[in-house]
Amino acid sequence: MKPIDTAGITSLDVEEKVREMAAKAIGIDSSTIGSADALSERFKLDSLQAMEILAKVEDEFSVLIPDEEYFKCKSVSQISKLVMKALGLEQTEGEPEKERAKPTARKRIADFASSREYAAFLERKRSIEELGNPYFIKHDSKVADTSIISGKKTLNFGSYNYVCLSGDPETVEAAREAASTYGTSASGSRLLAGDKSLYRQLEAEIADWKHTEDAIVMVSGHATNVTTVGCLCNENDLILYDILSHNSIVQGCLLSKSTSKSFPHNDFDALESLLKEHRDEYEKVLLIVEGVYSMDGDIAPIPEFVRLKKKYGLLLMVDEAHSTCVLGEHGGGVDDYFGLAPDDIDIKMGTLSKGLGTCGGYIAGSKQLVEWLMYNAPGFVFSVGISPVLAAACLAGIKKLRRDKTPVKKLHDNIAYFMAEARKRRLDTVLAGETPIIPIMVGPDEQSFALSVKMLEKGVFVPPAVYPAVPKGKSRLRFCLCSKHEPWQMQKALDELESAARELGIELPRK
Ligand SMILES: Cc1ncc(COP(=O)(O)O)c(C=O)c1O
Repeated sequence: MKPIDTAGITSLDVEEKVREMAAKAIGIDSSTIGSADALSERFKLDSLQAMEILAKVEDEFSVLIPDEEYFKCKSVSQISKLVMKALGLEQTEGEPEKERAKPTARKRIADFASSREYAAFLERKRSIEELGNPYFIKHDSKVADTSIISGKKTLNFGSYNYVCLSGDPETVEAAREAASTYGTSASGSRLLAGDKSLYRQLEAEIADWKHTEDAIVMVSGHATNVTTVGCLCNENDLILYDILSHNSIVQGCLLSKSTSKSFPHNDFDALESLLKEHRDEYEKVLLIVEGVYSMDGDIAPIPEFVRLKKKYGLLLMVDEAHSTCVLGEHGGGVDDYFGLAPDDIDIKMGTLSKGLGTCGGYIAGSKQLVEWLMYNAPGFVFSVGISPVLAAACLAGIKKLRRDKTPVKKLHDNIAYFMAEARKRRLDTVLAGETPIIPIMVGPDEQSFALSVKMLEKGVFVPPAVYPAVPKGKSRLRFCLCSKHEPWQMQKALDELESAARELGIELPRK
């Protein structure tokens, strides 16, 4: 470690630098962080971000800071004091701190293209483009086992159209009819101007399917989580969420007035330790997990979370974005898969955009919860209702799945086939096995980018998952299966992966 010249360094200089690094790790502007702000409470810092700040600070000042001391610090000012100590510049007791200089005027930025945010984005974009940009690939057709990319029929392994309800003749016909009956928009907030019997029919169908008293549908899955998580709890409450939770859950926690804290992925023992220590400090404790995790493709141990919910008196919310239409004989999700009692989960969240083939989100639960959300959730009250076209298509899709279990069965046959083929090749499929998301581990981000681009040249679309969606150095190609994939298509995809890796000189990790 190269020592730095400490002459003239003041505690204010150190504080400014630490603030900048914390802001970078959190992804916000440094001016939003006060010196005494408790970083983890105010900005919902998770352990990875905390470690990132520590690594950056140690690197910047060429010092080593003991973890035990670092983790006792709550604020920029406390971390700065540790740095000063490590630099041998500790303020001696009684010595007055140098007078705080009048803040210098900041350079005005009046156009977005000159902002720090845009500069940081450009840097990242440049590095992606060097490798061939795999983002915003145009699919000018329906998207299921195949799609049309650049005028060419391509094998598609990147869609969440798990049971092919998007493009299904029944859902398309329902959409067509709804468009001619209602037009294409709700044309206002449902509360005030835009409700329809169709919406309540869809909500009743979802509630029945999910074994709850009622349900509410909102315009996007992401917004459903942000607004619901954001508004259900107050300053007397605690939110505990799995560290791998989707961005929409984390954003909801940021919005909420309550304290929130992540726990290690699926680690119900670590969660129980937190509960033993902290349950009684709060009124409500909202526990949020997902049914199936979209980066690793694993199913969460929901019965363990139900056990903790009952033991400690929690509200349990399960995001079923990737388990609805996937788990359970008719795609009913984790309740059916694990044989849960109807009220084991208090808040059953799902999206309409993945298995259900449309766009929107739902919360299914007690009639009190749903009624309260209908009058209070800002993302519902102050936003338009979903398009009647989508509501009708979604309703037709759920009815089809409940009547006919073949699409879910076909999906699971495909999962078993793909997994067997991947195992034969000793590829590392991370935690996958029973869900249509089957990641194949690659390693460095640039290798996943290069493989994805090469695969597309070979007629196979499979998107990469890279940092920060997955840990650094653990990038992967995420194969998403649907009920229409045929064995030869899955074989071809894996053959092309092997040949692309050979051509690029990439060694795929083998098990
Ligand atoms: C777990 C999870 N929750 C919520 C969402 C947001 O859903 P939507 O894309 O329908 O807005 C996603 C989307 O990827 C997700 O994976």
